[in-house]
Amino acid sequence: MKQNRRSFLKKAVLSTATIGMGSWLTSAGRHHGSNTPIEKGKNDWKSSFMLSDQMVYMNNGTMGVSPESVLDQTITAMRLADTMGKYGGGEEELCQSLARFLGGAPSSYALTRNVTEGTNMVLMGLKFKKGDEIVCTSHEHAGTAIPLMYRSRKDGIVLKVVDIHPNPMQTTDHILSAITKKTRLLCLPHMPCTTGQLLEVAYICREARKRNILTFIDGAHPPGMLKVDIPSIGCDFYSGCGHKWMLGPKGTGFLYVHPPAAALLPPVFVGAGTYGAYLLNTQTQSYSKPATDGHKYYYGSQNAGLFLGLAASVSFLMDELGMEQVESHAKRLSLMVRDSVKHIHEEAVFLCPDDMRYRTGVCSFRIPGMSSETICQQMRQKGIIVRHVHENNLDLVRVSTHVYNTEEDVFRFSETLKDMM
Ligand SMILES: Cc1ncc(COP(=O)(O)O)c(C=O)c1O
Repeated sequence: MKQNRRSFLKKAVLSTATIGMGSWLTSAGRHHGSNTPIEKGKNDWKSSFMLSDQMVYMNNGTMGVSPESVLDQTITAMRLADTMGKYGGGEEELCQSLARFLGGAPSSYALTRNVTEGTNMVLMGLKFKKGDEIVCTSHEHAGTAIPLMYRSRKDGIVLKVVDIHPNPMQTTDHILSAITKKTRLLCLPHMPCTTGQLLEVAYICREARKRNILTFIDGAHPPGMLKVDIPSIGCDFYSGCGHKWMLGPKGTGFLYVHPPAAALLPPVFVGAGTYGAYLLNTQTQSYSKPATDGHKYYYGSQNAGLFLGLAASVSFLMDELGMEQVESHAKRLSLMVRDSVKHIHEEAVFLCPDDMRYRTGVCSFRIPGMSSETICQQMRQKGIIVRHVHENNLDLVRVSTHVYNTEEDVFRFSETLKDMM
């Protein structure tokens, strides 16, 4: 039986990759038990993770899962602090890793705790005057939407909110058409948390720079899922995190600042690290030697374990797996998800693009007449973890798959969905 399933799965993968999926879901029969060994294949990466077989985790878009090697590295460094008093460090290593992984110079990276922190550093740090305009989308995550609305209300900045169109090129048109003489910033997701559509950020940023408009990209998703080179996007600011697709420790992130744009972004918080020298006493109040690297934006004591853990994630993705393989695995599984859902309900509505240039490891859908929230809740009760998209009242089921997911996971997901119909 196992043998049959394995050859069946192999066939399913082949047909998914080549002829656009067949009837593999119905012909497979029911899946019994969760202990089926994972077939050792080219992309069998699941064994590097400690994920329980009791559930299928398909919510990498909210929080990634670290491989065991990354956890080991994180904990080893934290133990050294607590057993040998060896604290601090790891920053240089991490900035170098980020530069190797995402391009640019190590000094262009400020280390943060999450995407939202980098977003706030930009949205609260930039100087605006009343009536200035920021263009953003109607699919922003709370981590961007709330800082945007907060700053807008505080300083009288006008938000020009454009819709994400199912066709990415039309999304680009919406964004560029919203630009006026008063536009100071485009604040856009590289990939919104909602539909998995990759935006044409390089093209948009080029158009913005021609018009002297600054660009901030919310990069919560693509780093670690797709091959990304931030400088070639041509944005001024790019905020990302280590804890989603980069599979790093929770509570890690970065803000990339294009060097010329650093002069336009004063730090919101300052402290040890921001200035190299200071004197404060009854006679003198002075500080000097401003940081010339990302330390302009981050400060104070940090956790070396988190930094070194994230550097280990970069090695895992780049050197052990290879980002081309990672990207094609994530996209292939998301196509399998799409086709399995289509097969179960032919009226299913997909908001992720079919065009592979704009496709990611995220597949979002809605089944007419069914609440996506209920589907997500029922899936969770059955051990399948997916996310409900509530943003902009879209009511979608979002399935996000990464290197630890397998065809077997897609099969378990689709069988569970089939049972709900
Ligand atoms: C597009 C997008 N932006 C921002 C965030 C916030 O990320 P963080 O929790 O790391 O601040 C998320 C989180 O899911 C997201 O999907």
